[in-house]
Amino acid sequence: MPTGAAGGPAATEPFGVAVVGCGNISKQYLKNLTTFPDVRVLFCADIDTGRAKAQAAAYGVPASGSVEQALEHPDVQLVVNLTIPAAHAEVASAAIAAGKHVWNEKPLAPDVAAGRALLEQARAAGVRVGCAPDTVLGAGVQSARRLIASGSIGTPISALALLQGPGPESWHPDPEFLFAKGAGPLFDLGPYYLSVLATLFGPTTRVAAISRRARDTRVIGSGPRAGTEFNVEVPTFISAVAEYAGGAAGSLLFSWDSPLQRMGFLEVTGTEATLAMPDPNHFDGDLRVRRAGDREWTVIGSTGAAAGRGSGVVDMVRAIRRGEPHRASGEMALHVLEMMTAIERSGSTAAFEPVESGFDAPAALAEDWNPYAADV
Ligand SMILES: NC(=O)c1ccc[n+]([C@@H]2O[C@H](COP(=O)([O-])OP(=O)(O)OC[C@H]3O[C@@H](n4cnc5c(N)ncnc54)[C@H](O)[C@@H]3O)[C@@H](O)[C@H]2O)c1
Repeated sequence: MPTGAAGGPAATEPFGVAVVGCGNISKQYLKNLTTFPDVRVLFCADIDTGRAKAQAAAYGVPASGSVEQALEHPDVQLVVNLTIPAAHAEVASAAIAAGKHVWNEKPLAPDVAAGRALLEQARAAGVRVGCAPDTVLGAGVQSARRLIASGSIGTPISALALLQGPGPESWHPDPEFLFAKGAGPLFDLGPYYLSVLATLFGPTTRVAAISRRARDTRVIGSGPRAGTEFNVEVPTFISAVAEYAGGAAGSLLFSWDSPLQRMGFLEVTGTEATLAMPDPNHFDGDLRVRRAGDREWTVIGSTGAAAGRGSGVVDMVRAIRRGEPHRASGEMALHVLEMMTAIERSGSTAAFEPVESGFDAPAALAEDWNPYAADV
């Protein structure tokens, strides 16, 4: 591989990537990352090396094996960490220690101290940390940013986020981690909603919440272990309010205790109109706007790239090469993690809890941003 000025690959060479954690979500990442010209997936790793081998074979990745082998690979510059939440910080820290940049699945780390330590370790090592969700780079959220910036809804004053359903144990074949510390509806799905609001409103200053757990055990509903009962360790109903530094207020509901399923509900109300956003777990979708006196929504199609999971890795690679900040940053993920932790704490203390970390607002993406064309 030819080298560039800083000893890394030449600017036109694809960035060498290893995917660590070859479970459920790795399919979407591998499908996309193997089609983006700015990255080349060189290695698949998992504690279950059989899984890593199967995914490497399925997506034409040249090598597979253990995490240690991935980190020893001389051409791997960035690790895409798709392990379970409990392993995120440990795997990311090992990757940073090996001199690799890291893209983490969400949440960034199991707790704020571990997340902060990770970012400090990366800063000292001179490598970057990016974190899911990269849906904030999708056409839906980026179009909403442009619409709000145009003044179309006036000054944003509040947001309403709603996610409710029976929970993922019916479809996920290994759902225990989704009900363990570091997950639950708040930590598993909250990052999509809270990252969109962080992108639109900036940092939060304080939160308060009520939380509940309807059942102490659940039963796996699909796959080879269907029928197995497991313990629920976290709240499965969280109703929260959040105050943003810029003055906006958020009303947030995250529940896996509801037979009624309602996903992807996120509205931003401004002084002139309410904007209904596309599902924050998706990369595209229509925007809908309703002004005072309107009897119907006005539908506005979103524009821009909706390339799916891995878009944030492409943005990160391009930003590293250009010496610019990447958008789905570790700092924003740490703020969202601190916010979720404060919401969880407020569920126990019944008091407003402060959120202190900050982050630089990510720059908007150009409407013609295209991860399928090499950035030369
Ligand atoms: N499943 C989804 O729809 C989905 C969607 C978006 C994000 N995510 C996130 O992606 C991550 C993975 O979720 P998933 O559904 O793919 O889980 P999964 O259990 O299907 O896969 C996780 C994989 O990581 C491996 N692993 C666990 N610990 C490891 C370690 N220490 N070192 C190496 N490998 C390790 C496991 O063997 C497994 O193959 C989670 O953070 C989750 O929040 C999942």
